[in-house]
Amino acid sequence: MAGVALLVDGLTVQFGSFRAINDLSLAIDYGEVRAVIGPNGAGKTTLLDVISGITRPKDGRVLFGDTLDITRQSESAIARAGIRRKFQKPSVFEGLTVRQHIEIGTEAGFRRKYEGPALEARVAEVLEIVGLTEQAARMAGELSHGQKQWLEIGMVLASDPRVLMLDEPVAGLTDEETARTAALVRSLKRPDRAIVVVEHDMDFVELIADRVTVLHEGRTLFEGSMDKVRADESVVEVYLGR
Ligand SMILES: Nc1ncnc2c1ncn2[C@@H]1O[C@H](COP(=O)(O)OP(=O)(O)OP(=O)(O)O)[C@@H](O)[C@H]1O
Ligand SMILES: [Mg+2]
Repeated sequence: MAGVALLVDGLTVQFGSFRAINDLSLAIDYGEVRAVIGPNGAGKTTLLDVISGITRPKDGRVLFGDTLDITRQSESAIARAGIRRKFQKPSVFEGLTVRQHIEIGTEAGFRRKYEGPALEARVAEVLEIVGLTEQAARMAGELSHGQKQWLEIGMVLASDPRVLMLDEPVAGLTDEETARTAALVRSLKRPDRAIVVVEHDMDFVELIADRVTVLHEGRTLFEGSMDKVRADESVVEVYLGR
């Protein structure tokens, strides 16, 4: 499956008089892992909020595939279409088990995608992928911070999304946990899936990203391989050099 998974076209998001996203256009292809980086407040999370239907833009559109306009669709319709997202703020349910989280994750936008034995099989598969099989019966509140991040990745993976967006998946993780997360993200790459990762950890970005988009003040400052990003003077000046 080749082609464009997400096309962001002339997007502007305004909060009062402040433009968090300013006439932003970018395309993310199926098969790639795209990192979105940039300084605090650059608009990274806001971009994911628009794509996932949480924030309405003032202008511009988001197309899923190169034709389906999702700009004004509801969060649940966008999830049903196959676009899932992990939030920047940790958000596990302390009093539910790990298994229950993955079960909930299989329901994208209030639609049951798996039932009976297929549900059991999917939950087992996802637990294995994110390395939490042995924790399945534990309460999520008892997990380590790293395990909670993997659980959240498992939740968004569970419905088998076409577009998977992760907002800061390694924030607060140890080096070893970060390395495991990089291997996990790479293992999720598929020709019919696009993966979008927002992160500040550049060593992690280097391990996972096929291409990197650098946002600054709601616009694309630079786009290219991590090598080119590191070598770009404007990126060093506004972000990497700080
Ligand atoms: N709901 C909102 N109302 C007002 N301003 C907002 C809102 N959401 C975000 N902003 C502002 O928009 C800008 C972009 O925020 P955003 O969360 O997208 O940044 P970010 O690139 O994800 O930063 P970080 O790396 O710190 O997570 C910031 O200045 C933020 O304060
Ligand atoms: Mg953010």
